[in-house]
Amino acid sequence: MTDVLPKDFVRALGEPVVATRLSRFTQRLAYFDVVESTNDVAMRLLESGAPDGTTVLASAQTAGRGRRGRNWFSPEGVGLYLSVVIRDMQAVPITLLAGVVAAEGIRSVTEVPVELEWPNDLVVESDESSPIWPRRQKVGGILAEGAPGRADHGAVVVGIGVNVNSTGYPPDIADRASSLEVISGRKVDRGAVLSSILLSLAGWSDKCRTAGGVTMLQRWRELSPSSRGSRVLWASTEGDRSGVTEGIDSDGALRVRFGEQSERVLGGELVWLPEPALDSL
Ligand code: BTN
Repeated sequence: MTDVLPKDFVRALGEPVVATRLSRFTQRLAYFDVVESTNDVAMRLLESGAPDGTTVLASAQTAGRGRRGRNWFSPEGVGLYLSVVIRDMQAVPITLLAGVVAAEGIRSVTEVPVELEWPNDLVVESDESSPIWPRRQKVGGILAEGAPGRADHGAVVVGIGVNVNSTGYPPDIADRASSLEVISGRKVDRGAVLSSILLSLAGWSDKCRTAGGVTMLQRWRELSPSSRGSRVLWASTEGDRSGVTEGIDSDGALRVRFGEQSERVLGGELVWLPEPALDSL
């Protein structure tokens, strides 16, 4: 049993100029005032055969999930908590696709210059001269999950969380989290962000299906300046290492140089280090 879609979402999704292009999502849209996790609901729908474009949306999550088993802070009414079933998207790194989709969706309807931080964080760079670390504030993230144990290649749930108008966070994320409202200095219409992200998803998924992921990866690289030339720390199979990012491969792996070698980082935890101070070079 789903709840009544709030007016701001109805208005944004029903705009005549976008309604037809959004119909692949709105035809099968499950909305909840409160749900444990939209990804969990979408995964159950995927497993019961729901078609591509099936969408789950909530105003609050009680057990929102982030990468690596973390919680995703999901207070009522001030964020976007969205999951979409995607089918038939072989050979395209879906997490990166979802990052491009979300960053472009947000950029189209706000003045917030959202960037991507590998693999899936939606971040905003703070002032160059700021002595504060971390220099990038996180305004959203992506959690793409495949159906466990199924030979259903190319079927995934893409979960997108965006801090739209949130102003306070739990202590463990307070120094790194921010929202579109805080960064732009004005209230942001979550319905407009939703509809813009879904339009971006329709456009990019069509493009990837017909022409492959090359253009999408190119756009990802443009949206992620930190994926080249940033100092990072990561856990390799041979222990902790630090190096400098060298960009992404076509499968989404991050290349990192340390000394004379270059390693492909596929997942796991990455720590972004401050740039070396000029006087220490
Ligand atoms: C991350 O940065 O760690 C990923 C966060 C993903 C959060 C979204 S909110 C909608 C969907 N439902 C979830 O439980 N998680 C994703």
